Amino acid sequence: MRHVYFATFLIVVLAVSALGFRGDRFKHPPLELFPDMDHQAHLKPQAESAFFTDGRADRPLPPNVVAASLPLDAEDGLFRGKATDNSWLKTIPVAVDAKLLARGQDRYGIYCAPCHGALGDGNGITKQYGMSTTPSYLDERRLGLTAGEIFNVITNGSTQNKNMLPYADKLSPEDRWAVVAYVRALQRAQRGSPADVPAANRKELGL
Ligand code: HEC
Repeated sequence: MRHVYFATFLIVVLAVSALGFRGDRFKHPPLELFPDMDHQAHLKPQAESAFFTDGRADRPLPPNVVAASLPLDAEDGLFRGKATDNSWLKTIPVAVDAKLLARGQDRYGIYCAPCHGALGDGNGITKQYGMSTTPSYLDERRLGLTAGEIFNVITNGSTQNKNMLPYADKLSPEDRWAVVAYVRALQRAQRGSPADVPAANRKELGL
């Protein structure tokens, strides 16, 4: 019987301490065990500050600063992979040369190959650890993706089943286009035929 009294007592104490004081007003600020940088020394916009000789908290722009922005079309293409009519860009809006491809290969090896595989066939190392949903770039649908769509997948993650995270925080827009160019190179390479090899080099392949 003693146990029953004790258990009842404990339940009452717990219930009152958890629920009893809800909604009460306190005069003192609550105890903050984890302040999470809530309180920081900062100045409000357009406030005064004794710290600067001119007494203003806002700092003026340094001399000769000019506000600059790219024309909207270029920004759309470069940063969203879209044309001004909101359609996906079919081609890569930066110059594709050996340097860009080398950069794309480098970034691809770091950020994409673990899942999509060095060949782009979806057989990266993560497949061996159970991640079976990574697609190949070589099926009909992915071959049909426009450059802008691939750029968008890298920027915002997969729009399909949401199984791929965005990489915008790891790859600058320029790097993303470099990776798009490299994905295109992989798609081309995997669908090559002996006819693509220049006659002079066919012997090396034993053709
Ligand atoms: C952690 C594993 C992983 C990494 C790393 C990864 N992906 Fe993916 N990717 C996926 C998965 C899974 C899907 C399928 C998405 C879905 O269906 O939701 C996918 C889909 C895609 C698609 C096809 C989208 C479509 O519409 O079908 C493209 C293109 C792609 N990834 C490119 C990349 C590129 C480029 C990188 C490197 C910047 C990359 N991925 C990195 C897992 C990954």
